[in-house]
Amino acid sequence: MKKTLFICSFFLLTNLPTTAQNEYLNDFLTSDFHKHRREALRKQMPNNSVAVFFSNPVRNRSNDVNYIYHQDPNFHYLTGHNQPHSMLLVFKQPVEINGQPMNEVLFLRDRNALAEIYDGERMAVNEVKAELGINNAFTSTVFEHFNLDFKQFDRVSFYDFFDDYRDHPESGDLYEIVNHFKQKVGYESSNNLEIEPKGNNIDLVTLDSIMISLRGIKTKEEISLLRKAVDISTLAQAEVMKAMKPGLSETEIQGLHEYIFKKYRAEYEGYPSIVGAGHNGCVLHYIDNYKPRIADGELILMDLGAEYHGYTADVTRTIPVNGKFNKEQRLIYDLVYEAQEAALKLCKEGTYFDDLYQATLKVINDGLLELGVYENLNEETIMNPQTGRNRYYPHGCCHHIGLDVHDKGEYDELEENMVITIEPGIYIPAGSPTDEKWWDIAVRIEDDFLIQKEGCELLSDKAPRKSSEIEKLMTQPSVFDSLVLPELEEK
Ligand code: GLY
Ligand code: MN
Ligand code: MN
Repeated sequence: MKKTLFICSFFLLTNLPTTAQNEYLNDFLTSDFHKHRREALRKQMPNNSVAVFFSNPVRNRSNDVNYIYHQDPNFHYLTGHNQPHSMLLVFKQPVEINGQPMNEVLFLRDRNALAEIYDGERMAVNEVKAELGINNAFTSTVFEHFNLDFKQFDRVSFYDFFDDYRDHPESGDLYEIVNHFKQKVGYESSNNLEIEPKGNNIDLVTLDSIMISLRGIKTKEEISLLRKAVDISTLAQAEVMKAMKPGLSETEIQGLHEYIFKKYRAEYEGYPSIVGAGHNGCVLHYIDNYKPRIADGELILMDLGAEYHGYTADVTRTIPVNGKFNKEQRLIYDLVYEAQEAALKLCKEGTYFDDLYQATLKVINDGLLELGVYENLNEETIMNPQTGRNRYYPHGCCHHIGLDVHDKGEYDELEENMVITIEPGIYIPAGSPTDEKWWDIAVRIEDDFLIQKEGCELLSDKAPRKSSEIEKLMTQPSVFDSLVLPELEEK
């Protein structure tokens, strides 16, 4: 939708005064970007193969209300077409269809005047070439009788189906095109994860490895959108730090962050925001954000990432609600900081992902021993037998970010132009086998890095990471200090 909005806006607004045109963002990925990505895919595809991609399903929220539509990241990456009920075919070599050589085909949902009153304009088949740079387009309803024999290919590569879409009343919906596709290629079940030995050309393996290799290394256009997403997220985190005070609710803090990132025109949360005060910080993916009054003396862990034109930041800050870390909080905080620093010193092309994790783990284990949180570093002490994970640092430290918050990419050696997080954490829930003074301290520090040949660039530097710098920023006034809303009257 976003892309379409931009393209339509561009053509519709060219006669408006410049100031009005400037109100529309113009830094979306171009059709050339998507075309080059399809070319890069084609280059890696096996001989005489076709790659098939489907748009994401529309998800129902309840009754006749759907969740906001979000395109499948691979589909967006390869087409820029962000409307549902669509399908893309990319051929390794041009294929003759209806007497025409075609190297790619987009199927998209037909126009529908009534539906468009509610949901907005759909792209028409005859607009695809000019707006998306894809030469061949048909409505999805055409696919059933489309003149293409999938048996001619050595491989028909696609992602396995989760079968989690519903049948919509309109013909040519995703449900229909997937079913026609399954019949055409002889797909029966989702269990044949390898190329079938019985002459079946279905290939459920190759495509993901190609998409991993493509999406893991960011182009300059992607890096520029990621920079923007991260800048916006961290500017908003810094404003939230200034606004923080006891008595706010977790959801209100989430709302402040969202208001600010939307002010900077980031469209969505890249993942559900995590805002956990006190014990809630120990729940790694705590997204309820329900605590009505955060308390003086608590820490609050805020894992917040704005999505800008499809690309998401992933940044965590942990701060003292009242602006001052107490002794134990500061000791744990500074230890997590030290762990992150140890990893980022190694962070450059050629380092292994696992080296980063081991560097953070060593600092955390040794530090917790030194602080007396652990009595020793025996296996039984540092491992939680119920989870099989490290007791107080139970997650990995790094992942790619991009169109997905946990983005596609290789997890072997770092390469130039990967964009990754480094996110060590220590979580000591109440009841843990250590002195009560440590209980319910939860700290994660998560930052985003652009990998370079000789080092890495910290992208998320607009929100402070050091305990002393956080405390300093929290003494500054906030634009929200004067925000007073009327009380809700009891009726
Ligand atoms: N926000 C999820 C994560 O940090 O991986
Ligand atoms: Mn993360
Ligand atoms: Mn995160």
